[in-house]
Amino acid sequence: MLVVLVPDAAALDREAARIVAHRVRDKPSITLGLASGSTPLGMYRELIRLHREEGLDLSRVTTFNLDEYLGLAPSHPRSFHRFMREFFFDHVNVPASNIHVPDGTAADLDAYCAEYERRIVEAGGIDLQVLGIGRDGHIGFNEPTSSLASRTRVKTLTAATMEDNRRVFEAGEPVPECAITMGIGTILEARHILLLGAGAAKREAVAKAVEGPVTATVTASALQLHPQVTVLVDRDAAAALRHLEYYERVMHTTATLTPDRVARPTD
Ligand code: F6R
Repeated sequence: MLVVLVPDAAALDREAARIVAHRVRDKPSITLGLASGSTPLGMYRELIRLHREEGLDLSRVTTFNLDEYLGLAPSHPRSFHRFMREFFFDHVNVPASNIHVPDGTAADLDAYCAEYERRIVEAGGIDLQVLGIGRDGHIGFNEPTSSLASRTRVKTLTAATMEDNRRVFEAGEPVPECAITMGIGTILEARHILLLGAGAAKREAVAKAVEGPVTATVTASALQLHPQVTVLVDRDAAAALRHLEYYERVMHTTATLTPDRVARPTD
């Protein structure tokens, strides 16, 4: 794991976008795994700026989103489909046919989830998977006790996650209890993984994911088993890490070796 420390959320947005843009320029036909939620919002804003002002071309990129609320149609204002369109896809040039977000209204869910997995394989697998992290340490919507070998499927959300999600729903509007999510096994098959953590609310989850034992009760800890993970965190999210001084030194010694800040197999 390569832990990259940045001072604040604005620096995190810029650095995350820089890493993704570097990868896209390196491989224009890249397959990206994308997350929704508040954490990557600034990264999407910065990628849009790079597209508009610095000619970042996404015309050959393919994307797979991690998850979608069960029961919400792609047109639902609170769906991740809408979120991704509003905050990213409507402003860049990823072809619509290359965009994949799970369909929360699929009739045969098992068949649909198997098909989502098949499409990822057909696209050549995910080159770079961007992840946020939940307060309970989830990645995707792989809540505590999710199998570390899990594949795309329906998961029931914890009360705490539903509470966190409530802020984007109108008062009195029901908050979805379930979501379709890529599994931990699916995520671990991505070639590179970029985990983003911002803000004090994520500090315990980040510390457990990076320095705690590998456990299904903190599903982000499974990333320790992956050879190429970059954990990009701001100071607030990093505050409970015990080896901060070491991560600082690693950052400096590897800066010239890994200018795109994506961990190499040796990390
Ligand atoms: C969203 C997702 C979730 C979020 C996590 C953090 O697609 O997969 O794991 O990344 O719940 O959400 P925010 O960023 O809103 O704090």
